[in-house]
Amino acid sequence: MIKVRRVAPGEWAVLRDVRLRALLDAPSAFASTHAREVAFGEDEWRARIAGGPWWLAYVDGVLVGMVAGYGTDDEPGVRHLVSMWVAAEARGTGAATALAGEMCRWAAADGARTVSLWVADGNDRARRFYERLGFTGTDERQPLPSDPGTGEERMERVLR
Ligand SMILES: CC(C)(COP(=O)(O)OP(=O)(O)OC[C@H]1O[C@@H](n2cnc3c(N)ncnc32)[C@H](O)[C@@H]1OP(=O)(O)O)[C@@H](O)C(=O)NCCC(=O)NCCS
Repeated sequence: MIKVRRVAPGEWAVLRDVRLRALLDAPSAFASTHAREVAFGEDEWRARIAGGPWWLAYVDGVLVGMVAGYGTDDEPGVRHLVSMWVAAEARGTGAATALAGEMCRWAAADGARTVSLWVADGNDRARRFYERLGFTGTDERQPLPSDPGTGEERMERVLR
């Protein structure tokens, strides 16, 4: 059974462990790196939880994935989907769909009209996953911050 729940303010160590796991597992998928975040202290993890919602996915009680969302003042109608990750053994189970669904429900309830994300060139599985959920490419591109030799494209989903 798949369950998704929001990270509570005091759960900074749980968040740290799963995020570092994700960065080690899929280094080319994210804007940040394990080397950078392994140096974060408790205050930085707590600040991250305070900065926007984070959700964790469990399959049969085992923690297998995460996602986060946040908004910015310069794009008030947009919420950004970030840090999407599901452990290899739980891919294809629906855990990722449940996580993204929870994030998009939060975005809609928070008044957003659009959910935005960045996907790295060559991350075909993630791109296909996002397309299935209704995200489309925007042709807005930038270098992947963690590896500027690789590009990434912004994708968006309009909420109903
Ligand atoms: C991205 C991620 C969260 C998606 O979760 P998932 O459980 O793998 O997703 P799903 O299996 O539900 O969907 C993947 C889709 O890609 C397809 N797919 C699988 N391998 C593929 C490949 N090599 N190329 C293209 N499509 C592929 C699957 O068939 C499926 O499409 P379908 O539903 O039309 O059949 C997960 O793969 C992951 O954590 N990857 C590593 C971290 C990452 O890339 N995060 C995203 C950062 S933007």
